[in-house]
Amino acid sequence: MTDKTQRRKAIVKKSIDVILNNQEDNGSYPASPTFPQFHYCWLRDGMFTAEAALEIGHAKEAKKFYQWVNRTLIKHKSIVEGLELKLKNKEKLTSADFLPARFTMTGDLEEPNTDGKPFFFYKWPKLYALEGLGKDGDWPNFQTDCYGAWLWGVANYIKTTDDKAFLIECQSSIDLTIKYLKLTWTMPCFDPWEEYGTKRNIASLGSIAGGLQAINEFYEDEKISGLIEAIKQTILDSAVENGGVFPKYIGASHIDGNSLWLTIPYKVFPIDHPYVVATIKRLEKELLVNGGVKRYYNDVYYGGGEWIVLTCWLGLYYLEADEPKKATALLEWVESHTEKGYAFPEQSLEALNYPEFKDDWQNKWWGESPAPLLWSHAMYLIFLKKYEAAIHE
Ligand code: BGC
Repeated sequence: MTDKTQRRKAIVKKSIDVILNNQEDNGSYPASPTFPQFHYCWLRDGMFTAEAALEIGHAKEAKKFYQWVNRTLIKHKSIVEGLELKLKNKEKLTSADFLPARFTMTGDLEEPNTDGKPFFFYKWPKLYALEGLGKDGDWPNFQTDCYGAWLWGVANYIKTTDDKAFLIECQSSIDLTIKYLKLTWTMPCFDPWEEYGTKRNIASLGSIAGGLQAINEFYEDEKISGLIEAIKQTILDSAVENGGVFPKYIGASHIDGNSLWLTIPYKVFPIDHPYVVATIKRLEKELLVNGGVKRYYNDVYYGGGEWIVLTCWLGLYYLEADEPKKATALLEWVESHTEKGYAFPEQSLEALNYPEFKDDWQNKWWGESPAPLLWSHAMYLIFLKKYEAAIHE
């Protein structure tokens, strides 16, 4: 066995262990077991982690996660009912009126922050402002993409396993989510990176459209189809305004790596759509740095490096686009960026936008950046499985 093959085997083993061993008995996944800030279950991270579990033959574990989400959403049903009523009565909204991006591991809402504003609200007030939506110190929890992600994940689970009974088991929470997304999709909210709460991020819109599209393959509801078309049109208009490239958010002229989700996994637009192709070209020019993919050009989080999950996504795109050489280069980059014990971090901190901020986050604020990150391990396994299938075709 070559060194490379041996190393790949070790990373795969580590990735499977990280995903299987960190799932709670109730089905929830922490974002990272070793990073205190990440000892919560995000619907976005959790969904991709469950997708990886499914891909590697652990459908039972994936189902446990979706059952946890199902129970959790039913438990917090009153939030959606309250939001509906407040919107009807045109009452002022606060952050407590929205479903959160992350729950505690037991599926509860986290306690409001009582320590005052964390550092980043002072340093980058525009990035983290809640703009009237509650206390500035609280976690930026209003993130609609998480709910599109859950719809996509549960639909994908049902399609892959043909477990139709599960659709019926989850019907109330799925319907609740559809109602929630109908109420919120036009509102600015925090993006998948939990920033820019006053904007409408394109990947958030794409996640909603993709989730609704996936679930509507079962429902075949014309009203839902109409909603999907309206969301897609909004995304297309944002690209038209930006010269045929998907912007980071409506009105922006710069891009975000998470626009990759519009094609994979959400299939909102095909990989050869001219705006997708133009966005990838720009991404290659601006965000593919040192072999890995950045979130966006002026990202400040831990200085702004290259993300494992995004690099895997670009790799998945290349596989679909029949560019295996480019996919190989990205896979090798990902595999060369593990940390101690083959643990994947969130991002590589080698080629940073702002090296000085890395020191602040690490030494003054949150400590070493998280590793292992379940989402990174999950995307690696998904990418590798598709990669091996593609090159053995
Ligand atoms: C990322 C989010 C992610 C969270 C937990 C944040 O740093 O921006 O996308 O959900 O970490 O992994």
